[in-house]
Amino acid sequence: MKLTLLGAAGGIGQTLALLLKLRLPVGTELALYDISPVTPGIAVDISHVPTSVKAVGYSGEDPTEALKNSDMVLITAGVARKPGMTRADLFNINAGIIKNLVEKVADVCPKACIGIVTNPVNTLVPIAAEVLRKKGVYDKRKLFGVTTLDVVRAKTFMSELKDKHVETVRVPVIGGHSGPTILPLLSQALSEGRKVELTQEEIEKLTYRIQNAGTEVVEAKAGGGSATLSMAESGARFAVAVFEALLGDGCVRYAYVESKEGSGYPEFFAQPVRFGLEGVEEILPIGELSQYEKEQLAEMVKILENDIKIGKDFVNQA
Ligand code: LMR
Repeated sequence: MKLTLLGAAGGIGQTLALLLKLRLPVGTELALYDISPVTPGIAVDISHVPTSVKAVGYSGEDPTEALKNSDMVLITAGVARKPGMTRADLFNINAGIIKNLVEKVADVCPKACIGIVTNPVNTLVPIAAEVLRKKGVYDKRKLFGVTTLDVVRAKTFMSELKDKHVETVRVPVIGGHSGPTILPLLSQALSEGRKVELTQEEIEKLTYRIQNAGTEVVEAKAGGGSATLSMAESGARFAVAVFEALLGDGCVRYAYVESKEGSGYPEFFAQPVRFGLEGVEEILPIGELSQYEKEQLAEMVKILENDIKIGKDFVNQA
C-alpha cells in the first residue's frame, strides 16, 4: 500500500511526513512530493528513522512519479494565511494549485482516496469533486476534507475548561472548516462516557474559541503563518486511521465529505463517517442538537453553501 503526500516540504508537510513515517502500517510506501528541490532530502532525512515505512522523495513541476500506484493522497500544498486574512482569502492561490494536483491524481491514480488539508477546505473539496467528475473518476466515497483539527481542539479546550482528562473527552464537530461553519456539538460532549454539563455562557465562549482557534494561532505566530504542528498531528491521526480502514481495520471519524442525498445538509458537510475498505462506508447520524446548535446550524448553512458554490463555479466556469 502506498500513501502520497503532496506539499511535503511545507510547514505542515514536513512534520506530517515524519508522523506518517512513524505511524503508518508496517511496509507502507510513503511518497513525498513538493515543487521544492529539498523534498528528496526530506525523504532521506526521515528514512533514517527506524520504522519499516519506506519514504521516497520527489520534486519538480510534475507529481506523476510520486502518484503512481498510490492508494491514498494527502494534499497540504498551498499557501497559509497571515494575520487579518480569512481562510477564504487563500482561495485565489490555492484553488489553482489544488485543481492542478487533483487533475494529476485523476490521471495517474484515479482510484486513490484523497484527503485535503489545504485551505479553504470548504471550497477546495468541492473543486476536487468537480475536477474528478469532469475526468469521469469521481467517487464520493474517496474524497474528504480533513477537519480533525477542529475535533482535536474541541477536545483540548473542553478538557481545559472543565478540568477533565483530555483523553476521555469526546466532542463532535460538524459543518465545515472556517469560522462559524465549524460547529462543535457541546450538548453531546462526553467525558469518561458521561455528559459534560455547561452553562450557556460556557457554551458560547467555548464555541467561539473552537471556531476561531485557527486565527488564535495565526495571530500568535504574528506573520509567521498558521497552525502547522497541530495540523500535522491531527492530519496524521486522520490519515493513519483511514489508511488502516482501507486495509480492513474500519474506523469512525469526523470528516468533510459529500452528504447523503436528501439529508438536508449542504452538499459537503463535516459529519461522523464510518470508513472501510473503499473509503466512506456509511455516514452516521449527527444526533440531537440543542436549540442553540440548531440556530448556529441554520446560520452556518448559508455560508457553507456559498463556499461550495464558489468551488463548483471555479471549475465549471473556467
Ligand atoms: C487551522 O485551523 O489552524 C488551519 O485551517 C489554518 C488556518 O488558516 O487557520
